[in-house]
Amino acid sequence: MNIAIIGAGYVGMTTSLAFGEAGHHVWVMDTDKAKITQLKKATLPFYEAGAESLLQELIEQNRLTFETELAPCMEHCDLLFMTVGTPSLPTGGADLRYVETVSKAIGQCLKSYKIVVIKSTVPVGTSEKVKKWIEIELEKRGKSIPFDIVSNPEFLREGRALDDAREPDRIVIGCQSNMAEVEMKRLYKDHLSKCLFTTARNAEMIKYASNAFLATKISFINEIARLCDPLGTDVREVARGIGLDHRIGPHFLHAGIGYGGSCFPKDVKALLHLAEKNQTELPVLQAVDQMNAIQANWFINKVKAKLGSLTGKHLALLGLTFKPETDDIREATALRLIDILLKEGAHLTAFDPKGTENVKTLYPSLTYATTPLEAVRGADAILLVTEWKDIVEMDWKTARQLISRPFLFDGRNALDPVQIRALGFDYQGVGRH
Ligand code: UDX
Ligand code: UDX
Repeated sequence: MNIAIIGAGYVGMTTSLAFGEAGHHVWVMDTDKAKITQLKKATLPFYEAGAESLLQELIEQNRLTFETELAPCMEHCDLLFMTVGTPSLPTGGADLRYVETVSKAIGQCLKSYKIVVIKSTVPVGTSEKVKKWIEIELEKRGKSIPFDIVSNPEFLREGRALDDAREPDRIVIGCQSNMAEVEMKRLYKDHLSKCLFTTARNAEMIKYASNAFLATKISFINEIARLCDPLGTDVREVARGIGLDHRIGPHFLHAGIGYGGSCFPKDVKALLHLAEKNQTELPVLQAVDQMNAIQANWFINKVKAKLGSLTGKHLALLGLTFKPETDDIREATALRLIDILLKEGAHLTAFDPKGTENVKTLYPSLTYATTPLEAVRGADAILLVTEWKDIVEMDWKTARQLISRPFLFDGRNALDPVQIRALGFDYQGVGRH
């Protein structure tokens, strides 16, 4: 099939690669000319394992065409995927300005029947808005051309996006048209048993509710971890124990310093905003959001309980991205920690395998190390922020010799306390002893 992907960001590109790999021809469109120039040279604007080599392969096989204009994509493709960003507004609501721009552009170029598939995460009711925006443009042109809108939210996890696209848990397809349903079935013919067909509004809600539920699991286990601390219980054992119950499941029960990334924080806030607009209170989700906002402070209080005032203290921050295997720092807890620690007067040396350049643009005056060992040299304490393999498996014995004082705060419960204490560290995890 010929498929257009409008918006070559993280979601757009990983989706393009997955469709290209599955044998389709993908027309990748982005208004950012510099980005398209780089993509043509097989360079991705983000890091995702295996993605750049697949991009190179698909370019060599002529499976991808790159465009900065919509018209040529619409000439060749009947399926138009919208993958532009939907960032948070100051109110917490989703900013639909890019979705609106693309919808209007589609209305201006539409010549024959198309299926517009919304993959971006959008509030309930957006499909109807997109329909209206396209219709307004058609009316301006005095045209009546049929088209359908489908909601097909993405559930890709950064760092595992290609695998998620190859082997999805489920594919949610919200549409009310038979013609669109037939085409979507053709597109996903290898995964038909995993397709859930529903209305566009339900599909939009499923996406928000999924992310909100996962965020709830994390805030819940973080709350339990807090209580494990004074009670001397181990939250990892507790999570293992409750996760064995099939009704609960073992996933997303890893306690730490809070969730980050481009989805959970934004989507929980967007759902709360949607509820407020509909005069509905969501006390559970409100608590989930608050809990996440203050988890970094809770962690720093643990550091202060050991070190006292942080003024003038040298701290090594290991890991900056919102999770390992990505260079993404959107809503990363590391940024919250940096803000608090700088306010407290600490001196920070940071290390991250992929995220340093992105953090440097926000905090040019921090000291950045090129290895974890270089970061810990002379530090009063180490804060493990993101559980990169390079960090978890670093030479901790040498680290213990390089650090001034023995304090190690593991914000991701990534290390083995017994082994690490045997090296002479004063180890503190999150809800474990
Ligand atoms: C995605 C989803 O779209 C969002 O809904 C989800 O919740 C998080 O992930 P992402 O792929 O990370 O967003 O967005 P971003 O990296 O901002 O990429 C969007 C791309 O669209 C950019 O390359 C931008 O240049 C392009 N764009 C934007 C257009 O081509 N046209 C526009 O009018 C606006
Ligand atoms: C998430 C969803 O998983 C995905 O389905 C959706 O499409 C986009 O949002 P992503 O943001 O890439 O994916 O990362 P994810 O692996 O879900 O982790 C999000 C955050 O939660 C990270 O900061 C991670 O460290 C944290 N997390 C995750 C925990 O603190 N504990 C856990 O048990 C799991």
